[in-house]
Amino acid sequence: MSLIEKLNWRYATKKFDTAKKLSPEQLDTLLTAIQLAPSSFGLQSYKVLVVEDPAIRAQLRDAAYGQSQLTDASQVIIFASETVIDSALVNKYVDRIAEVRHMERVHLGAYEDTMVGTVNRLAEDQKMTWSNKQAYIALGVLLTAAADLGIDACPMEGFQAGKFDEILGLKALGLTTTVIAPVGFRAEDDTYSHLAKVRRPKSELFIHI
Ligand SMILES: Cc1cc2nc3c(=O)[nH]c(=O)nc-3n(C[C@H](O)[C@H](O)[C@H](O)COP(=O)(O)O)c2cc1C
Repeated sequence: MSLIEKLNWRYATKKFDTAKKLSPEQLDTLLTAIQLAPSSFGLQSYKVLVVEDPAIRAQLRDAAYGQSQLTDASQVIIFASETVIDSALVNKYVDRIAEVRHMERVHLGAYEDTMVGTVNRLAEDQKMTWSNKQAYIALGVLLTAAADLGIDACPMEGFQAGKFDEILGLKALGLTTTVIAPVGFRAEDDTYSHLAKVRRPKSELFIHI
């Protein structure tokens, strides 16, 4: 299948086959794709939880209006934004650049100053919005990678973030839930899998200038 055929094949899976699980290799490939997602400055101001524990997932389902994907998918991937975005986060990232690229930290000073300046200019709510946007890019990469591998997923924001944070103990980790995506394999009788894609026509969606 071409990439476009795969993007037509994928859909927001409503009903997962509870008997089908991702292999460790498939899961690892999805996580690698998430790891490789681009982000503003490359800061990746979020963490990604992989939830398998059935008892936790039952609680998460209650906090997601009973949506069955939470308990029935193979894993639930949770994108959680960092709640503290400050110069310490930037410093740590610059340490990492210096290490990976074998650079002396002094050569990264100007880049570090730009990033710290940008981060410090943002009000707290702007930081959260900015951070959430980065997490959504990672979600998009996950969905595309899953389609490429023939793995089903459902992007979801129909849940109570505060309850998710409580159930997962995220406050203590300096995180808050942004968006989630259960992954696994569609149930044969998921009627949604047969529905035609509804998208804006290209004439309405695109503006060529
Ligand atoms: C950010 C986001 C949040 C969504 N939240 C939910 C959700 O809570 N439950 C659900 O069943 N589908 C959810 N969807 C799926 C959309 O309804 C679906 O992607 C859209 O209707 C297009 O259909 P398709 O993805 O099947 O092609 C969400 C999609 C996105 C991108």
